[in-house]
Amino acid sequence: MTVAVENAVVAREARYVLQTYKRNPVTLVRGQGVRLYDDQGKEYLDLLSGIGVAALGHAHPALARAVADQMQTLIHTSNLFYQPLQGQVAERLARLSGLHRAFICNSGTEAVEACLKFARRYWFTKGEPRAEFIALEHSFHGRTFGALSVTSDPHYREPFEPLLPTVKFVSNSDPQALLAAVSNKTCAIIAEPIQGEGGIRPLSPAFAASITEACAKTGALYIADEIQSGLGRTGEAFAFSALGLKPHLVSVGKALGGGVPIGAALVHQDVADAIKFGDHGTTYGGNLLACRAALVYLTELVDNGLMAHVARVGRHFERALKALAAKHAFVKEARGAGLMWGLDLNRDAAPVVAAGLERGVIVNRTSETVVRLLPPLVITEPDIDEALARLDAALAAVGAQG
Ligand SMILES: Cc1ncc(COP(=O)(O)O)c(C=O)c1O
Repeated sequence: MTVAVENAVVAREARYVLQTYKRNPVTLVRGQGVRLYDDQGKEYLDLLSGIGVAALGHAHPALARAVADQMQTLIHTSNLFYQPLQGQVAERLARLSGLHRAFICNSGTEAVEACLKFARRYWFTKGEPRAEFIALEHSFHGRTFGALSVTSDPHYREPFEPLLPTVKFVSNSDPQALLAAVSNKTCAIIAEPIQGEGGIRPLSPAFAASITEACAKTGALYIADEIQSGLGRTGEAFAFSALGLKPHLVSVGKALGGGVPIGAALVHQDVADAIKFGDHGTTYGGNLLACRAALVYLTELVDNGLMAHVARVGRHFERALKALAAKHAFVKEARGAGLMWGLDLNRDAAPVVAAGLERGVIVNRTSETVVRLLPPLVITEPDIDEALARLDAALAAVGAQG
């Protein structure tokens, strides 16, 4: 820590930035593809992409060109006027998801907030208001009050209580518990098809089937939070499809702008029919800059083969990661899909993150014991081999400490 305290960047932050983040002792200044560089010129292979955001890698030429061009044309008009890009993003998201309309906002938590409000609005419009939400253990949906109310971790919740009083949590692996919890008072079930912050925990097909059954029996809506798992991360457009789920609402964010903040709530027409002018809004949401970035991302993903690339390199990633898990006895399990993976350890994952940074590979710790891997989707097989060799060395160093 002595080195860090002498650093002007660290000292300024320590003095002026509200201390909500415990940062790693690295100052990143530049990126290129899957590589990041710190202020000392040291190179890191990025297996985290800014928590699943820099999906096109860093300094992506088409994204950089488009954003620079848009900056010189028009950035923001507010949602009081038409502009040519927001409808294009909504159309592309609708085609990709099978849902019908999009409300565009600025972040993941706002997308979740919008989904919760639209679900409430659906029942209000029907004339039978329903207040209750069902959420899962190990869920994470964001930090604003509504999204936090459906987030399970007491560490995030407790200092801010009381939250929404009408949320019930059920085990993420007990279909019967879900069926017992849902009733005709339930407004919506919210669940990530692969829980991210909660430790990369894919829902089982049996659990997914119980969501479908519960919705069919009670009319409850299903909100799929695909902020981390969606938009190509698993090699498919959305992780809900592989589970046979048919959500009424889907939240997206993270990768959508490739680093330019943007999120969206995707809405089935049945829900959209309940929404009236003025029900929801945002000053920035879906402005031209963010939409231009999203159009680049969606073009790369769908038209330029990125999704197929993820499916291909994802298989390589899985094989290599499972081999790593088998090699190091303190790795209990490798869980995930495509390019969304977690190594669950029999101990705290923090030393692995630190050992990785020393060896030039960036991963993160989530759910205490899980090393999370969300590499840029443009990562290649040789990059994967190089990054996982560094992670292998980091795991060996931590293992050697006993
Ligand atoms: C599944 C999920 N939902 C919601 C959020 C919140 O998104 P944001 O941090 O953009 O508000 C996250 C962020 O990690 C997430 O992974």
